[in-house]
Amino acid sequence: MAIRLGDTAPDFTADTTAGPISFHEYLGSSWGILFSHPKDYTPVCTTELGEVAKLKPEFDKRNVKVLGLSVDPLDSHKGWAGDIEETQGTALNFPLIADPDRKVSTLYDMIHPNANDSFTVRSVFIIGPDKKVKLTITYPASAGRNFDEILRVIDSLQLTSNYSVATPVNWKDGDDVIIVPAVSDEEAKSKFPAGWKTLKPYLRVTKQPNK
Ligand code: BEZ
Repeated sequence: MAIRLGDTAPDFTADTTAGPISFHEYLGSSWGILFSHPKDYTPVCTTELGEVAKLKPEFDKRNVKVLGLSVDPLDSHKGWAGDIEETQGTALNFPLIADPDRKVSTLYDMIHPNANDSFTVRSVFIIGPDKKVKLTITYPASAGRNFDEILRVIDSLQLTSNYSVATPVNWKDGDDVIIVPAVSDEEAKSKFPAGWKTLKPYLRVTKQPNK
């Protein structure tokens, strides 16, 4: 069954390039990102994994544990890791799940049979410290994902979680944010002492609180 926002991210054990892991234990009290790759030794996936390895310090800064998945076996992943380092200039620095029996891919509905009946699509799941799914994205195999956008959404999710603000269209780090409707004006006075601008009673804009 499809995994929806707010669901508890299903737990699993799996073999990875960093050894066996138990998913919830791996996440601990951190945020997490789980993302799938259709297959080893494929060009788009090779570029994506190199990019995520380069961005690893950005995920670390946000307290996000990174976990990739490809349906091929561990031996194949280990050989492919050499190509990723050689062609992308960065070694794989996070675990990549080997899922030859499609256990995790099936659990997370990453195989869409009308797209391809054996390879995964490019799924992304962002998971909060409460183990609830906060975001899902599905890309086709032919389109590499934009991981800067994924970091942007993580920033937005963390602002919501920490400060009760939402982010407007095309928001970038440092732009003004929106006070969530669940916060009353009375409550907002203590949460946003620097004030806010009311464009409409439901549209209140304030400075990004952590800047
Ligand atoms: C790729 O990663 O390059 C790829 C994988 C499956 C289909 C098309 C492209």
